[in-house]
Amino acid sequence: MTDQHLVILVEEDSDKLIEIALENSGAIFFVLKLKYMINKIVSKSQKETEKIAKEFLEKILGSKVSKSACVVGLSGDLGTGKTTFTQAISKILKIKRKVNSPTFVIMKRYSLKHKIFKNMFHLDAYRLKNAQELLNLGWKEIISNPEHLVFIEWPENVKKAMPKKHHKISIKHTKEGHRSFKIKHI
Ligand SMILES: Nc1ncnc2c1ncn2[C@@H]1O[C@H](COP(=O)(O)OP(=O)(O)O)[C@@H](O)[C@H]1O
Ligand SMILES: [Mg+2]
Repeated sequence: MTDQHLVILVEEDSDKLIEIALENSGAIFFVLKLKYMINKIVSKSQKETEKIAKEFLEKILGSKVSKSACVVGLSGDLGTGKTTFTQAISKILKIKRKVNSPTFVIMKRYSLKHKIFKNMFHLDAYRLKNAQELLNLGWKEIISNPEHLVFIEWPENVKKAMPKKHHKISIKHTKEGHRSFKIKHI
């Protein structure tokens, strides 16, 4: 590589930015997309969401070395499929109890028969006003246990209480009525 070459590392959804950069420059660019940091996938049905959930879980288990809980923030408007994703995870983990939205109870715990995770927590911070309300539920203890797998909807409502390192899933409605998943692993 010579000094005429410039390497830009970009997130996977930065295509527009690259196009502009290429248009405005005579230099040669090597564009290395960080495909493995951010995954963008479209789900057309609950069945497809199950496939996404399966891959997500496999990836988490493949890299699980943390001394604290595995925390997953699920962002997206109402009805985008945050609960549906958690239900898909619960199916893979063979949770027999029905995993309903915890919007009104805020938090639910499901015990697991799993080699790494002993409990799955499903929280919905939609009705929480601040991080303190989450702390009052024993959040610190929950996220400090490495045997805990934690899914929390509306993490932006309790931003200050979210651990620095957590997986981020953002779901959006697409024009076609499908769901677009953006997954950022730790
Ligand atoms: N990938 C998908 N494709 C089509 N419909 C979906 C998909 N994921 C979820 N849904 C539907 O969207 C509705 C709302 O989903 P839900 O998981 O409750 O959303 P959220 O928890 O984000 O508010 C449900 O009726 C569900 O069947
Ligand atoms: Mg929900």
